[in-house]
Amino acid sequence: MRVILSAAVTADGYLDDNTPQRLMISTAADWEAVQRLRASCDAILVGAETLRRDNPALRLRNDGMRRQRMAEGYPADLTKVVLTRSGRLDPAMRFFTEGVSEKIVFAQRELPDIQPYATVISSNGEEHTAAFIITELEKRGIGRLLVEGGAEILRMFLRENQADELRLAVNPHLLLGTGRGGARFQFEPPATASCDKEQLDGMEVVHYTLHPDRTENDMKHLQEAIDESRRCTPCRTSYRVGAVIETDDGQLFKGYTHECSATHHAEQEAILKALEAGASLRGAAIYTSMEPCSKRASEPESCTQLILRHGFARVVFALYEPDCFVCCRGALTLREAGLDVRCYPKMGGQVRAINAHLWQ
Ligand SMILES: NC(=O)c1ccc[n+]([C@@H]2O[C@H](COP(=O)([O-])OP(=O)(O)OC[C@H]3O[C@@H](n4cnc5c(N)ncnc54)[C@H](OP(=O)(O)O)[C@@H]3O)[C@@H](O)[C@H]2O)c1
Repeated sequence: MRVILSAAVTADGYLDDNTPQRLMISTAADWEAVQRLRASCDAILVGAETLRRDNPALRLRNDGMRRQRMAEGYPADLTKVVLTRSGRLDPAMRFFTEGVSEKIVFAQRELPDIQPYATVISSNGEEHTAAFIITELEKRGIGRLLVEGGAEILRMFLRENQADELRLAVNPHLLLGTGRGGARFQFEPPATASCDKEQLDGMEVVHYTLHPDRTENDMKHLQEAIDESRRCTPCRTSYRVGAVIETDDGQLFKGYTHECSATHHAEQEAILKALEAGASLRGAAIYTSMEPCSKRASEPESCTQLILRHGFARVVFALYEPDCFVCCRGALTLREAGLDVRCYPKMGGQVRAINAHLWQ
């Protein structure tokens, strides 16, 4: 998934003032650009406080953009997502009443008043992390997520290093000062970030890239991993999976399920070949047609544990492991450990077809 943060701030870094009315920070041209950014995403996410203060509908207002999305096979509106610990949400909020897109609430407990209007994902008292939210949304086919605030939510994605881009629009003519300011968002870009600046109808817009977009290279190696998986003979007790490792110095190693041993997974086969060749796996990327497993009965370590132990930096896959044999937590565990984990759900159809022997 690609995660894009977006915010408009005053010259002194406020997202809002402390009055009950919503403060308009963006100019018309900036707002239009934000609408275009929304139109390029699959889902839009905010914190509950933003819903309580502003009551936004979070829909695309531009008919041309809506038509364009539908012509390209996407729903006119984005999936809407809100996070709450307290559950203080009103089903009469425009978030719930406007638009036909799916609404998802990440909450810490069941919310019977909200459940008729939205999908509630409860954590049973646990704190939701950005890694968990991304994983759950990816499993639902979300490929681009727009996080529109407020301050607490933006900070959460940045703190966990789960944001790929930030669009920060500053209105240099608007200064509130401590007496009038509401939620505040100030951003210190890491040294590794790159940025582009533009002037837009009086706004200063900075586009930060926190993690470069590697989609092209990812999809190329993922396709090789998927092709590799076709070499595995179908059997009733395991998935046909293929894996490709790309080391830091550009060496490639491939493997597929059961290639050399009846208990080996594809990732394991590729890792063994890399180790035999004396390659260093620290900082390497592994492309695997299916989410790395997180539990093994027939081997001492799961593929997730192997990937962690060898110091891989990136994991790229096409299909989350279906709940056929076990409930897999590979992607979530790797994300929470700080690895760059990417899923390309659009390539998952091929993996499903290659494993059709298991669903028939
Ligand atoms: N200018 C802009 O671009 C822009 C954009 C968006 C918002 N805003 C402004 O930002 C302000 C709100 O910002 P804010 O920082 O006060 O609040 P916020 O980020 O919108 O929402 C914070 C709330 O999100 C929920 N939450 C946070 N972390 C969570 C987690 N890990 N798991 C589950 N729920 C979690 C909690 O809801 P509960 O309290 O329900 O537990 C928390 O109070 C508003 O004034 C709004 O106008 C401005």
